[in-house]
Amino acid sequence: MIIARTLDELRAACAQLRVRFGSLALVPTMGALHAGHLALVHAAVASGGGVAASIFVNPLQFNPTEDLARYPRDEAGDCAALGAGGCQLVWIPDLAVMYPPGDCTTIDMAGPAKLWEGEFRPGHFRGVATVCAKLFGQIRPDRAYFGEKDWQQLQVVRRMAADLLLPLEIIGVPTVREPDGLALSSRNRFLTPDERRIAPRLFLALNSIASALAAGARAEEPLAAARSELSGHGFVVDYLALVDGPSLQPLPAAQPGARLVVAARLGSVRLIDNIQAG
Ligand code: PAJ
Repeated sequence: MIIARTLDELRAACAQLRVRFGSLALVPTMGALHAGHLALVHAAVASGGGVAASIFVNPLQFNPTEDLARYPRDEAGDCAALGAGGCQLVWIPDLAVMYPPGDCTTIDMAGPAKLWEGEFRPGHFRGVATVCAKLFGQIRPDRAYFGEKDWQQLQVVRRMAADLLLPLEIIGVPTVREPDGLALSSRNRFLTPDERRIAPRLFLALNSIASALAAGARAEEPLAAARSELSGHGFVVDYLALVDGPSLQPLPAAQPGARLVVAARLGSVRLIDNIQAG
């Protein structure tokens, strides 16, 4: 596996992979990899082309109240896992490559970026859309893989690529969960043992709402019941909503493509999750 740290190294490696495999897939990450990230790598490998992953903790997508310094880093472990997972290239740029001196261009989106994470993390999707556009420009992948775990991010990136006419396909990969239902996340390591026991209730709450919706209920009542149940267990719920999958607009009742999305804080850890609901 090639580890590229400069644009010259990256360009040479991408050219080599294109010749060898005919096409190139990209898995963008911020490192601290777990089985959720590796599911994206496996999906990319299964597509048959060359596979590149990127590791870059992107400061632009953290707002000032969020602890960028606390973000876990494990470059050696990540590279070993990517190599074992079948990745041929890892791109580890430094800050000055991603944000050159004098840099003054960002991508601001409305539409699917407006609500939910967009409201609770101002500037977050500006950072995500901007860094993804840069990664797509650097690597020029034919396909890029994103987790459904970050449902809104997947929709934002898909919309950005379509709006900017970028010649690549954005592919979503289902969420990988612990046996008790908790979605894998690099933040789970910050849960105390008590919080870790409570955390799977988020996924259970989504499922109980989905069952009520499937039985014909309108969204309002099961959403309110789940909010108060989660609060009773110590969650501080930022949002819990039924939305249209691609646009993230709120819905009054389930319909094909609907999604239940949630973000809630447990102690110092902010958890997000979502499931299909239609
Ligand atoms: P990061 O949080 O490292 O996640 C990288 C990718 O892994 C994202 O597409 C995310 O949705 C996916 N992922 C994380 N946990 C997952 C799980 N349990 N199951 C399936 N997929 C999972 O998301 C980012 O980084 C950044 O915003 C990035 C897109 C790299 C831009 O900086």
